This record gives sequence, structure tokens and C-alpha cells, in this order.
Amino acid sequence: MKKAHFLGFAQHGLSSHVVGMWRHPQDKVGWDFAGQEYWQHLARTMERGLFDGIFLADELAPYSSFEGSSDATARYAVQFPTHEPGALAPVISGATTHLGVGLTLSTAFEHPYSMARRLSTMDHLTAGRVAWNVVGSYSPSEWEAYGEVMPDRAQRYERIAEYVEVCRKLWRSWGPGAVVADRASGVWADPARIAEVDHRGTHFTCRGRHFVKPSPQGEPVIFQAGSSPQGRDFAAATADAVFAIHPTVEAMRAYSDDMRERIARCGRDPEQVKLYYGILPVVAPTSEAARRKADEIESLVPEGGALAMLSGQLGVDFGAVDPDAPLVDIDVPGIQGVKDALVAQAAEGERVTVAEAARIYSSRFSMPRLVGTPAEVADEIETFLDDGGADGFILLATYTPGCFEEFVDLVVPELQRRGRYRTEYPARTLRDNIRHD
Ligand SMILES: Cc1cc2nc3c(=O)[nH]c(=O)nc-3n(C[C@H](O)[C@H](O)[C@H](O)COP(=O)(O)O)c2cc1C
Repeated sequence: MKKAHFLGFAQHGLSSHVVGMWRHPQDKVGWDFAGQEYWQHLARTMERGLFDGIFLADELAPYSSFEGSSDATARYAVQFPTHEPGALAPVISGATTHLGVGLTLSTAFEHPYSMARRLSTMDHLTAGRVAWNVVGSYSPSEWEAYGEVMPDRAQRYERIAEYVEVCRKLWRSWGPGAVVADRASGVWADPARIAEVDHRGTHFTCRGRHFVKPSPQGEPVIFQAGSSPQGRDFAAATADAVFAIHPTVEAMRAYSDDMRERIARCGRDPEQVKLYYGILPVVAPTSEAARRKADEIESLVPEGGALAMLSGQLGVDFGAVDPDAPLVDIDVPGIQGVKDALVAQAAEGERVTVAEAARIYSSRFSMPRLVGTPAEVADEIETFLDDGGADGFILLATYTPGCFEEFVDLVVPELQRRGRYRTEYPARTLRDNIRHD
């Protein structure tokens, strides 16, 4: 019987993907998201729930696609403010012993040499628990903030692929026996076993030795969440874990089959690459109480904030588009997978409008909502594992830390009773915990 894996989906900010959650009466009561204590508590909660890790989403600047400015983004706290995620790695790993830390770090504005160095350093400091969610910055506001113009999707992926190639050359450049550490002769390393990387590619040039000694995992776990055909191919060739959002079990199944085929075509073992799907659990002791909770969450999303969020992630100014227009007819330069997931929400024979898409997106990030008692939520998780082909789930945050505490206290024991979830961590490094049941 297949067992589930979990990751907590968070962002180093006021709220993450569900707009307006800072208004919720149970959100961060007595906690400051900008302080260490909050993150230590969140990390310990997820570790108590035996999660593989925490996934820290990020973007590099406030969205400004809606009505040509970031006003609505700031006004309604749409993933705003967002602090830097990497700084949390030692805070989270220092408070835990097994929990992984997945960091979203963009390839857009930093040379791969320093990225490889930074991630190796973090892999040491977390004792082999760091993952890198590789992104290329999909929002025009990110490129504007850095004084550049956003390239198209094909170019972004070409650049990302070369970027990871350079990082991997650096991570793999210290051979076995490179560290001699012979006090008598004074020889610490054998330079013949530390290759000098000499990369001259289309986008990057890099000549030099990797500056960090081999880290516990050798290289970070690679997370990838691209969903366009280019994104899927890149993930299939590169990632240890792939993330996707699909609103129905049928769409999940189709994605799972497609990805496993692509992974096999790259000569990799599809069993070694875990597929995580986004879900939004809303759990309570009774079904009615859970439904009330879900309604309350949805009622807190302000309309302007919803449109700003959708505009930001799809790279289209929806302030200038008829709210009744079908989303399917609009080309998006931003996240293709988000559009696809929203279009797929349509009832038989209907088309999702821009206004509906904004509401669905900002209240649940297009993820299926699992609303009910612990047993009802566990039933749906089992269906996604068995019929959707899922290996794991990324849990969307609503009010924090409460939503994670409830999941850990109510749903985790239910899944354990059913033999669908681990009762202890199988290993120490993140890569090994992801690979095991
Ligand atoms: C679950 C999930 C989480 C994501 N998190 C981030 C993120 O934190 N930062 C980011 O820049 N992109 C994020 N993305 C976007 C993707 O990594 C990717 O850049 C984007 O989907 C564009 O590629 P695509 O058009 O191939 O989908 C996320 C996507 C998904 C499905």
C-alpha cells in the first residue's frame, strides 16, 4: 500500500497563497512572521507531523501586472510583503533534526557559481536537508525590479537548464579522496581530484574550482514545478521531486502518467522521482464545522486582491479584461500550469471566466479543497494516491500556524492508523526521506 509524503507550503511573508489570510481571526495570534520564533514553531510542528520538509515559495518583487502597478498587491497584501527565504534555512534546520528545507531561489539574476556555493554551504549547515526549488522568475515585475526585460518561456527554460548544468558540474567536481588532511605533510587536499570547471555555454561562462567541500547530500534535492511542455521536460530530466496543481483526480492521473513517461524517456527510473500535488485541507471534527471554516476562508479574499494575484502569476493585466471573458481564450506569458489548472475547473460544457478564475485562484491556488473530518480528508488523500498516481502532497497554508497544527494533530494519526503514513523518519537526509516510504 502506497504511503503519502507531505510538505508544508509556506512563504517568508505575511500570508502565502491564500489572499487575505492575515485578516483571519486565528492567523498568527501571538506570532510575528518576521521573527525566528514563528519559523521555529512552524518547523517543529511539521517535524512532529513527519513531513519531508517545508517548501518556501518565493518571488523577487511585488506583482505589478494588475492595472499597471503594484498598488493592489500592497493594498491587499497579495504575497506582500515577502522576505528573503534563504535566511530561514539555518533557523528551521536549527530547530529540527529531520525536516527538510526547500528554498525557492531564482536563476534569473545570480551567477550559477555563487548559487552552487550558497546551496552547498546550506547543505552543510542543515546536515543534508536542503532542497532547491529551481525557478526562472516568471513575473515581469521581477525583471523590472532588476532592470531587465523578461525573456519568453522557451528562452527562460533554456537558460535554467544551462544554469543547473553549471551548478552540477561544480557540485560533482570534487572526486573521492580529494580531502587528504595529512598533518604530517601539510597536504590538506589533492588538487588532482578537484576538477577545475571550465564551462563556456550560450548563457554562462564559468572557470574555477567549487569553493565548498562536498556536502552531506553532494548536491541539494532538486524541486521543480514547471508544467508547460518545456517545464515538464526540464523537470523530467533534472528533478528529484516534481510539483503540480491539478483540481481533479483525472487530471492528476493524466499528469502522473505523462511525467512518468517523460522521466523514463530521459533514461531515469520514474520511481525515483516523486510527484507531489497541491491540496488545501480544511479539517474539523465534523463535516459541518469544516464547511463553515472553508466558507469563512473564502469570504476573506478581497476582490481587488484576487485580480492582482491572478494578474501577477499569469502576467496579464486582468483589470483591462472583461471579467466575464473565458480564461481559456487568453494567452499568458506567466505560469502556464496555473492557467491550465483554472481552465480545468470548468463544469461540463462550461468555461471558467476571468472573475471565477480570480476567486478560485486567490482562495485556493487552484488546488482541490479537502473539506471535512479527518476521515473524510484521509479518504480523499487515499484516492489521490491510488487513482491519481500521487506520491505526496504539498499543503497550502490558510491561517498559520493553526492549519498545519490541525493537519498534524487530526489527519496524520488517521493516515497512520490506515497504514498510509510513516510513523518515524526513515533517514536523516532529505533526499533519503523523499525516496523512502
Ligand atoms: C506548486 C507550485 C509552486 C510554485 N512555486 C513557485 C515559486 O515559489 N516561485 C516561482 O517563481 N515560481 C513558482 N512556481 C512556478 C514554476 O516553478 C514555474 O516557474 C512556472 O510554473 C512557469 O513554468 P511553466 O509555464 O512551465 O508552468 C510554482 C509552481 C507550482 C505548480
